[in-house]
Amino acid sequence: MKARTSARLIDRFASLRLLVVTGKGGVGKTAVTAALGQLLAAAGRTVLLMETDPRESLHRLLDLPPSGGEIVRAGNRLHLQNLQPRQVLDDLVGERVKLRPVARRVLASPVYQHFAEGAPGLKETALLGRALRLVEGHGPRGAARPDLVILDAPATGHGVALLQAPSLVADVITSGPIGRMARDIAGFIADPERTGVLAVTLAEEMPVSETLELIAALDRNMGRRPEAIVVNGLYPPPGPAAGPAGAAALRLLERRHAINAAQLERLAGSWDGPMARLPLLPIDRGPSLSGSLARRLRPQLEEPRP
Ligand SMILES: Nc1ncnc2c1ncn2[C@@H]1O[C@H](COP(=O)(O)OP(=O)(O)O)[C@@H](O)[C@H]1O
Ligand SMILES: [Mg+2]
Repeated sequence: MKARTSARLIDRFASLRLLVVTGKGGVGKTAVTAALGQLLAAAGRTVLLMETDPRESLHRLLDLPPSGGEIVRAGNRLHLQNLQPRQVLDDLVGERVKLRPVARRVLASPVYQHFAEGAPGLKETALLGRALRLVEGHGPRGAARPDLVILDAPATGHGVALLQAPSLVADVITSGPIGRMARDIAGFIADPERTGVLAVTLAEEMPVSETLELIAALDRNMGRRPEAIVVNGLYPPPGPAAGPAGAAALRLLERRHAINAAQLERLAGSWDGPMARLPLLPIDRGPSLSGSLARRLRPQLEEPRP
């Protein structure tokens, strides 16, 4: 009898080239991205964490100074880069237009400015294209080629717009180098062997609603499902109270815990795929938070799945 291929989430993640971490702002995308990066690097993958939030925060979870756009080393096989999509698009123009003074003129021209900001999906396509080039080994000279890019996706809208950007651009620009590039990137994003999506949420009404919309839109528009949902920031079950202050705190905790339970149930009503749970920890943003989340995530990702 043939051995079944392993269905552990950690192996699935490790086999990908790009993992896009999506979710509403404030749910813990960045914290989960840092924790996952640490786990996958420890599992032997060379990982680049790519952050696009102009308010850099990933470095704090890894105990580093801000990366300022460069690829910086964050540990064994773990690297970090903060990239602004517009900058990536400008860089691309700079590379394609070989004569530097001409490139400068193009970048400064109102037509380009208008195009870069106005053409839907263009910046996002450039960003995803950067991830593709890095995993294909066309990164900056001297930089380690990542096996996997984990993209801490921007919080605006839900991640589906980002993921659909390349095919949108490819539909509009059908010929020439940009059209070809957009088609390659769209193929990369649509390929379940190479690209996966991870949804992070809190077990609260609004984030769960957004997560359910994300799942529906991914299915409708791309025929895809997230690899897993990470439910972050769960309140602990209420324990015994001591004194009147303790009783008030206990009621609050009971309430939050009950909301979590109800929203977990609501999520489970529409999602039968993998789900990992992470507690709300009494730890400030920093390496001990990402380390604690990684330790809690690990057994859940290593669990064999049917
Ligand atoms: N499980 C957790 N326990 C405690 N604090 C958390 C947890 N997850 C995230 N945080 C904190 O919550 C805030 C928002 O998390 P962050 O990862 O920045 O969210 P996002 O990237 O989705 O906006 C940060 O201050 C972070 O340190
Ligand atoms: Mg963030």
